[in-house]
Amino acid sequence: MSSTSPILVGIITVSDRASQGIYEDLGGPALRNAAEGYGWQVVGEVIVPDDLERIQAAIRSLISQGCGLVLTTGGTGVDVRDVTPEAIRGILRVEIPGFGELMRMRSVEITPNAILSRSLAAIVDTALVIALPGKPQGAVECLSFVLGAIPHAVKLAQRVPTSC
Ligand code: MTE
Repeated sequence: MSSTSPILVGIITVSDRASQGIYEDLGGPALRNAAEGYGWQVVGEVIVPDDLERIQAAIRSLISQGCGLVLTTGGTGVDVRDVTPEAIRGILRVEIPGFGELMRMRSVEITPNAILSRSLAAIVDTALVIALPGKPQGAVECLSFVLGAIPHAVKLAQRVPTSC
């Protein structure tokens, strides 16, 4: 990634039911639309079940394809099957708490249930990984709340020279 090239993005929908085709994945396409609107290039989109190892493998695969930013949607809540934060924490180098703090702070202005999301961001290998809630509109909203720090964080993750 140079200072001018677009951010390469991978998108992971984490959902048992969407991965089985029981319902249509709306979160992935919503994030793709948002990412393209920000001028980023989406290089991969996958749907995986709420399974820790499948989530980790999908993140690693997208990073190996060159993604500097990986967005997940779903599995951040408190259901017994919600393991996205645990999956990311199992492979991260460093967590960035401010992303989750800001997403929740801004989202509770919209819905009180926002505090149920354990959304987070972390550096995994050479990528910034952001775990967003599962509701398509919520995922897009949360992404917009942390947008300002993303280019700099991706450069730091990719060890591209940058200054604040
Ligand atoms: N944040 C925003 N901005 N908008 C939303 O609609 N939904 C909440 C919360 N965060 C929501 C939100 C709800 S209802 C839940 S249960 C949690 O995210 C966790 O969602 P997840 O398990 O699908 O990731």
